[in-house]
Amino acid sequence: VTPFPHLHFPTPQSPTPPSQDDLKRVAAHRAVELVESGMVLGLGTGSTAIHALDRIADLLRRGALTDIVGIPTSKKTEAQALALGIPLVDLNSHPNIDLSIDGADEVDPHLNLVKGRGGSLLREKMIEGASKRFVVIVDESKLVPRLGGSGLAVPVEIIPFGWEYTLGKLKKLFDGVSGFDAKLRMVKKEGKEDIDVTDNLNYIVDLYFEKGIELDLGLISDHILRITGVVEHGMFLGMATEVIIAGKDGIKVMK
Ligand code: 5RP
Repeated sequence: VTPFPHLHFPTPQSPTPPSQDDLKRVAAHRAVELVESGMVLGLGTGSTAIHALDRIADLLRRGALTDIVGIPTSKKTEAQALALGIPLVDLNSHPNIDLSIDGADEVDPHLNLVKGRGGSLLREKMIEGASKRFVVIVDESKLVPRLGGSGLAVPVEIIPFGWEYTLGKLKKLFDGVSGFDAKLRMVKKEGKEDIDVTDNLNYIVDLYFEKGIELDLGLISDHILRITGVVEHGMFLGMATEVIIAGKDGIKVMK
């Protein structure tokens, strides 16, 4: 029996293991099983969430789902959803969302997340925070014992005005934490390095913790948000209602 009933994974005669993208698709398809006709959906951003969008669009086309409206968590997702024919609304007209489905950069054992390495953390946090159910879809590589522990960044969205001041305040907050670093996120455009600008026309500072965040996450969150100039950070604490994890041995659901 294949552990991935939605997909045509290699049969025992062909032992090629599923790729990371196959696993992302498996998690996304499992999450879309929770979608019911008439729902207002939060539509996530990233290479995992796009599989959920594809699946929703496919079910809409086949009439298996009807009366769905989506709220995109980024301009990119908005464009993808429109191209796929998913009807869109916004948070102003639909502040009560039935279900959001989105990927994550890291998931800890308590269902806390790091999100926003794709830069969409602010809209994601608003939309997912307004959702009755927030289902996270990941492949098993996203599981970490501690947030910040994968060696990748914990993003913080800041306003452009006085960004060096805000960066300095963030550095000062973690002064003395061994292996800590903070950098303004840059992007390469037409071969040139430029400051990365979010959909909200803000900047992002990436925080790096060599050993992951060993301090109290709630306290860290409060301290970061208290810095004037910070808009939001990418730690999603206590927001996910469940995490669907696709791995080489099948699917696990953490609640
Ligand atoms: C974007 C996000 C994404 O959900 C996160 O980066 C995961 O992306 P992917 O599914 O491509 O690994 O938070 O801001």
